[in-house]
Amino acid sequence: MLSTLEARLLRYLKRAYVPYSHRPSAVVLLFSDGYYVPGVRVENASFSLTIPALHNALTTAIALGRRDVVAIMLSEPLDLEAQALLEGFQEDLFPRFRPESDRLFVATSCENLPMPQGELSPFWTKRISHATEGIQEARKVAAYAHTPESSFPVGCLLELDDGRCIPGVNVEHRDWTRTLCAERNAVSTALSYGLGPGRWRALYLSCVRRPERTSPCGACRQVMVEHCPELPVWQDRPLEPEVLSVRSLLPGFFALQ
Ligand code: THU
Repeated sequence: MLSTLEARLLRYLKRAYVPYSHRPSAVVLLFSDGYYVPGVRVENASFSLTIPALHNALTTAIALGRRDVVAIMLSEPLDLEAQALLEGFQEDLFPRFRPESDRLFVATSCENLPMPQGELSPFWTKRISHATEGIQEARKVAAYAHTPESSFPVGCLLELDDGRCIPGVNVEHRDWTRTLCAERNAVSTALSYGLGPGRWRALYLSCVRRPERTSPCGACRQVMVEHCPELPVWQDRPLEPEVLSVRSLLPGFFALQ
């Protein structure tokens, strides 16, 4: 049972995006029905925007509408960052966990872990046939956002070359610095699932409560531009969506290579 997850972790480690530290890390979250999601570390040239593997996995779970995590297995011992992250999320989002080792945490309410069944599909049920539909679906995705701090839900869909879409929502943390936006959530989910930028076709974004305000924040622009400068970003507007490439959203961006 645990050996299945260990084997998965080894595979996920190869998906980590760590061109700066060269130190990959990965996480696997197991749900009550035996399905699981990966999370990998995603570094950034603007170093503080790096997404730790646990953060990546937990925000993927929220975007996919799953909070019933029964086990967390990490490739590295739980560090202070991961501990702070988990504590700030636990109260309202996930169950409480007890350590079984420094790399395995089990929900206190769980007596027997389920047999692993397979990877949870990261895809939104609908494919997009035109931009307006992409925005309509992104608005629906926003229903999964976790926004106790701002009450400002955001939803997005990252469309792949085969028409499938990966959802992203903003997930707020009690410590605001650990809040993750919808766009970075979708991008880091895609990387965790081994779906790299060569396959990204477009991103559809909606700040549902204030469509006219829809626009990626600076941090998201910096993260997206590192992976896919030409990605078209369709932004919700009261009438017609407005499209801009990531590159045009961040002229003169900083990059190491
Ligand atoms: N937010 C996003 O998710 N994406 C954006 O493009 C703009 C901002 C979220 C982050 C935070 O939860 C809330 O909106 C207010 O900043």
